[in-house]
Amino acid sequence: MTYMPWDDSLLVGNEMIDDDHRTLVQCLNELFEASDDDAQAIGNVMDTLGIYTAEHFAREESLMAETSYGDAANHKKEHALLLKLYVDNRNAYRAGQATRMDLVKFLRMWLMGHIKNTDTKLASHVRSLVKAEPVAAAPRPAVKVDWTKVSVGVVDDSVEMRRTLRTILRGFGVAQVIEASDGAHFLQEVNMLRTSVDIVFSDDGMSPLDGIEMMRMLRGASDSPCPQAVGILIPADGSVGKIKAALDAGYHGVVAKPFSANAIRQQAERFLGNPLPWERVNGAWRPVRAKPVEVKARPGEFRR
Ligand SMILES: [Fe+2]
Ligand SMILES: [Fe+2]
Repeated sequence: MTYMPWDDSLLVGNEMIDDDHRTLVQCLNELFEASDDDAQAIGNVMDTLGIYTAEHFAREESLMAETSYGDAANHKKEHALLLKLYVDNRNAYRAGQATRMDLVKFLRMWLMGHIKNTDTKLASHVRSLVKAEPVAAAPRPAVKVDWTKVSVGVVDDSVEMRRTLRTILRGFGVAQVIEASDGAHFLQEVNMLRTSVDIVFSDDGMSPLDGIEMMRMLRGASDSPCPQAVGILIPADGSVGKIKAALDAGYHGVVAKPFSANAIRQQAERFLGNPLPWERVNGAWRPVRAKPVEVKARPGEFRR
């Protein structure tokens, strides 16, 4: 049973904020579902919650500064108080003075209260500015992406990073996530299962097989079960050289670290909703791009 199912009454009308809230609600549900005997799982969810919450607050506060939000001081005060209460409650749990469910109930209360009141006011302020001063909208997918039907690969040697991505994806509704700690294990897994993933998110520097080599093999091997999966590289450094190497290897795009749930969604839906045509170059499949992929790190995005 899902403790706090996501529903549209939680939407504040700003995609970046809504995607972050989905991830936080997903964390809350994972904390609810964790077994009291599994201290490791509970600790993992709490770490993700703490880090992602702090990063989410920083993103909202950047938005307040960028849009000269009049109620910024009060909103920030509320963030500081919520973070303090979160740490106090987490410490009480660790000291055996509170149960896991005490923490779950506290988080639900603050998420509901803060989202439905404070964040809703911020989002409506941002929307009022967009109406007054139209800005170029990001390209929207031609076909709406139904994430419940999307099968995803997550390849990263950091357990923490895989956990964060999995939480973000589950928040979107993804049911199937195949995880691996490097390219070789990922290829082995999909070959063994003969599973065709629709999209793969991959780190770059991994051993024994890094993300660039993995993509070359996924696109070119005659027995590859998913040679045309959408590929998104999440490199440690988003340098021009790295982006070029990624695109040459057959990736569709790059999301720079630090990343947010919304950056992941935008880049993924851009290619899942508007599939690129394919060409074969030297026996390997490659997506055909009309123009170079734009990569931007945004201030306050998720940091490790
Ligand atoms: Fe907020
Ligand atoms: Fe928020």
